[in-house]
Amino acid sequence: MSKLHTAHNSSEFDRIPKDDLDLKPRTPLRHSSSRFEPSGDQATFEKLATFDEVDPQYHVELFLQKVDQCKILFDFYDPSSDIEGKELKRMTLQELSAFITATKMTFTEEMYEHVVEMFKINIFRPIPPPVNPVGDIYDPDEDEPVYELAWPHMQIVYEFFLRFVESANFNNSVAKPYIDHKFVLTLLELFDSEDNRERDCLKTTLHRIYGKFLSLRSFIRKSINNIFLTFVYETGRFNGVSELLEILGSIINGFALPLKEEHKIFLFRVLIPLHKPRCLSLYHPQLAYCILQFLEKDSSLADEVIMGLLRYWPKINSPKELMFLNEIEDIFETISSQDLQHIEIPLFAQLAKCISSPHFQVSEKVLCYFNNEFFVSLVTENAENILPIIFPALYQLAQPELDLIEQQHQQPSNEFDYGDEPNNWNRTIATLAYNALKIFMDSNPIVYDRYCILYEEQMKEEKSKKEMRAQHWLKLEDYVEKLKLGDDQGINGVEIK
Ligand SMILES: *[C@@H]1O[C@H](CO)[C@@H](O)[C@H](O)[C@H]1NC(C)=O
Ligand SMILES: *[C@@H]1O[C@H](CO)[C@@H](O)[C@H](O)[C@H]1NC(C)=O
Repeated sequence: MSKLHTAHNSSEFDRIPKDDLDLKPRTPLRHSSSRFEPSGDQATFEKLATFDEVDPQYHVELFLQKVDQCKILFDFYDPSSDIEGKELKRMTLQELSAFITATKMTFTEEMYEHVVEMFKINIFRPIPPPVNPVGDIYDPDEDEPVYELAWPHMQIVYEFFLRFVESANFNNSVAKPYIDHKFVLTLLELFDSEDNRERDCLKTTLHRIYGKFLSLRSFIRKSINNIFLTFVYETGRFNGVSELLEILGSIINGFALPLKEEHKIFLFRVLIPLHKPRCLSLYHPQLAYCILQFLEKDSSLADEVIMGLLRYWPKINSPKELMFLNEIEDIFETISSQDLQHIEIPLFAQLAKCISSPHFQVSEKVLCYFNNEFFVSLVTENAENILPIIFPALYQLAQPELDLIEQQHQQPSNEFDYGDEPNNWNRTIATLAYNALKIFMDSNPIVYDRYCILYEEQMKEEKSKKEMRAQHWLKLEDYVEKLKLGDDQGINGVEIK
């Protein structure tokens, strides 16, 4: 019965035409570039006269003709197709770039319309889906990015457009109908391109548009916020975060004082949560730069920024923890002693944890803060509150160094042996920790001595508690042992507390 059944099944299987099998869902293949439909049946790219060859009164007409020609798209999947046409388009685009830079003529409205249209045809397209060759989600840390095959043309289109916008003859009130909200949104979508060369061009292009079009500024900022929020809370992936942050860095630089409420909200609701995603390393320098720009404008925001960082502090990711520590170190240079007092307890509780971190570099990073003058003056001014929080962590790490110094000054003694917490690190860390303690010893000797004595007492107390506990266990084991032996007399003899 079962034999028959399988035989039947397999013959059925054989009868399915191959084509139908192909209809089954498969892992999507990674595209080697974005999709352009080459404009196949269009007119061939003809060589037109150069601008020098015609009378200046015909320049506008020739310009429009050339721009329109550049709407022809070539097939870059096939390197051998229409090599001559590709070369002609490349030369035409370069000629247009040179012309727009040199010319003194007033741009006609038609010119704006045609240039923007040509730019859209060459650049605006769907971004290929973010999957790698095995069908997994594209990981910028691991996978080769998709490079645009049509880049040789795209690059000069970007360059030409940029020169057009940057030209002294460019009049943004005439360009306004063409460079609108929809244009900006499509440009922003392209920032997800895996090709960093393109993201670089987009960055400059959007930045210029931001500079020229006052009426688009608030819209551009709001749209970038939306991209960031979707990235942080929904998708966790977007390739152009660092480029967008670079634009914002220079935008923040230009904010007027006092900072508008809208901008502060952007700092706390958008920039700070950008510390959350796993791929922070891809854009952390740009993010830290933006935040420092804010603090350089208004240092009173520093305590709230640090509280924000503490909220997103990584729990098990030590490379990320190092980025946070680097950022905190820079913020120290802007924060005032009074503002630090608002947040010193949570902040130094976190720093104490980092000092005791099992990760060598994390511990070392915090200990190296003590080489920073700003940091040292901040902590010594507030030693009364800060030392008790970080003292145990420092003292444990500095133990080998302290022991050594003690041995040099006195006869060897075992009195201060707290050690079932063996210190795993080498001398470097012990010395750094000792130097940190030394700063407090020198600057606040009374406070230091007080916590030293308190700590030693506490350790002694804990040690005796531990010993007591160990004794209790021994007695209990003894008791159980005797119980097993069924020795009644023994049980009566043991006293359990
Ligand atoms: C820009 O164009 C507008 C509308 O055509 C015009 O009123 C304005 O004077 C032009 N600005 C410059 C600087 O040429
Ligand atoms: C201490 O350990 C760190 C990391 O393991 C290493 O980079 C450093 O060179 C060591 N220092 C000494 C003096 O051994």
